[in-house]
Amino acid sequence: MSDQLKVKVKALGLLDLLAFKNLVPNRKKIFEKASAAPVEKVPHMNALAQSIHPKRQTFEITGIKDCPNDVKIYELKSKHAAFFRAGQYLSVKLDIKGYKVTRAYSILSSPKEALTGKCALGIKGSGFVSEYIADNWKVGDTITTSGPEGAFYYEELRDAKTVVGIAGGCGISPLYSMAQAIVDGTEDFKLVLLYGSRTKKDIVLEAELREIVSKSNGKVKVVHVLSEQEAKGCETGFVTKELISKYGGELPYSIFMCGPQEMYDFVQKEIEELGLEKKYVRAELYGQINNIQEYDKFPSEKEGRKYKMTILAAGKTFETLASSTESVLVAIERAKVAAPSLCRTGECGFCRSRLISGDVFIPEDTDGRRAADKQSGYIHPCASFPVSDIVIEVPVE
Ligand code: FES
Repeated sequence: MSDQLKVKVKALGLLDLLAFKNLVPNRKKIFEKASAAPVEKVPHMNALAQSIHPKRQTFEITGIKDCPNDVKIYELKSKHAAFFRAGQYLSVKLDIKGYKVTRAYSILSSPKEALTGKCALGIKGSGFVSEYIADNWKVGDTITTSGPEGAFYYEELRDAKTVVGIAGGCGISPLYSMAQAIVDGTEDFKLVLLYGSRTKKDIVLEAELREIVSKSNGKVKVVHVLSEQEAKGCETGFVTKELISKYGGELPYSIFMCGPQEMYDFVQKEIEELGLEKKYVRAELYGQINNIQEYDKFPSEKEGRKYKMTILAAGKTFETLASSTESVLVAIERAKVAAPSLCRTGECGFCRSRLISGDVFIPEDTDGRRAADKQSGYIHPCASFPVSDIVIEVPVE
């Protein structure tokens, strides 16, 4: 009996018995005193979540800075700028002569600045919307954007300790934000930035990058790669696998790419030969596809054809003609239907719509749909191209 478990039970005292006896009457009193007003419609936690991940933000433009290569930096200020991960983007919402359009632009500033309500976007003035912005946005204007979006950011569990950033032109924005985040302690990894420009005078933020490197304790390195000029201290040509290996050091390292389509087309093939695991290669697709006719599986006989598109939205029917080389989303916007959109690259699923009839071409590498959506006929209009007359049901914003 020596190992028998002995449990000591404390005898109930008089005070315990009194507390137990008063339990029910005390609760009754609390209920009687409580307010009879209905519970708030939006519970407190939802309000908190909405302030951290807002669907919309408004900013005042506080400064516009001209940079080389037709790039302008827009400095923005808001009472409550949402915190973000370095590398994320904002989708700017615009009403251009009645056409409701959106464009995604990577955030250029450091996440730490968002804590003081500041944010910055670097936008190259080419293309219908970017040109509109360059011609119309002025200091003092108010603009509307989405909350921070996108998954192009460093993830300690997935990414290697060293990141080789490959940027071209205005694609420097998310990597510039990461470099600042490393210096101010928001992020902790080593960044080797291979930044491609045509000539030295086309480099955006050259002096600022130099300053970041000098403050980074060796954690940020910038190598300029010039395609049309030989210059001291710069590499010449394009970002090749040899260049990536030279500066990336020992495998594994992660690769984060952001730049124009031509840069991806070239660099992607170089990266394939490095033998890196897929999870280490991240690409921020930069803007919507403008050259679908050059994609491998695009049916060439459909190039330049126009199709009748019927759009069902908010109980109304709209009709427009859509070209096979423009995305379904662009045609919907031209019909003045305010379709939802964020990334415009097929990734986020925000524009998800039901294709009722007809056929679209969807490039494999931008098909971000879930398997169930594919089976039930849903498409992402931003990355789908009409190859017959179509009828589509669109959820309006
Ligand atoms: S807008 Fe993101 S998938 Fe279409």
